[in-house]
Amino acid sequence: MFNLAVMASGRGSNFASIVEKIEAGEVPAVVNVLVSDNPQAKALEFARAHGIETAVFRREDFPTNKAHNQAIADFLRPRGIDLVVLAGYMRIVKAPLLEAFPNRIINIHPALLPSFPGLEGQRQALEYGVKISGCTVHFVDDRVDHGPIILQAAVPVEEDDTVETLSARILKEEHKLLPRAITLIAQGKVRVEGRRVRITP
Ligand code: GAR
Repeated sequence: MFNLAVMASGRGSNFASIVEKIEAGEVPAVVNVLVSDNPQAKALEFARAHGIETAVFRREDFPTNKAHNQAIADFLRPRGIDLVVLAGYMRIVKAPLLEAFPNRIINIHPALLPSFPGLEGQRQALEYGVKISGCTVHFVDDRVDHGPIILQAAVPVEEDDTVETLSARILKEEHKLLPRAITLIAQGKVRVEGRRVRITP
C-alpha cells in the first residue's frame, strides 16, 4: 500500500479530508504517521481518534532549524514512506528532510502560485485585489512555495469577501485537490519534467 506521512501544524482539516477519503476508499493510500510541530494541533486529536500513530517534534526542542528537520528525517526514513504530505505545516522544510525524500514531498498552498507565496496567501490575494484566487498542490523544493505544480483549482473573489469567506471558499477546494494529487501520485500517473508535471490521463 502507498504509505503516507502527513505533517500538520494546526486545525488539520486538510489532514482530516485525506483520512476521510482513504476510509471511504477514494484514495489508495494509508497514513503511516501524522507528524506535527505543535503539541496542541487539532490534527493530533483527529489522528488518535482514527487510530493513526502521531509524533511531535517541537522546534524549541532543537538548537537549529536544520537539527529539527534532521530529527524528522531520521524518524521518517526507516518507515518506508512513499510520500510526505505537508497539509497545513507552517514551517519551511529544509535540506535534511528534502534530501531524504527527493521529489517525494508535496505541499498545499492557499493561493494560485506563483502569486502570493508565504504566509496568509488568502489575505495577500484579497489585499492585492485579484478577482480569481484558489489553491495549489506542488512538489517541495529548496525555495518557499516554489516547486513544480501538480494541480491547481481556481475560485472567484466575490465583491463582499473577507479573508474568512475567501479562505473558506478556497479551503473547500483544498479538501478535494490534495487527496486528488495524492491519488494521482499513488497511481503512478505523475511525472516531473523540469518545472512541468506531466499527468497521465
Ligand atoms: C490551509 O489553508 C493550507 O493551505 C494552509 O494552511 C491551512 C491549514 O488548514 N497552508 C499554508 O498556508 C502553508 N504555507 P488545515 O490545518 O485546516 O488543513
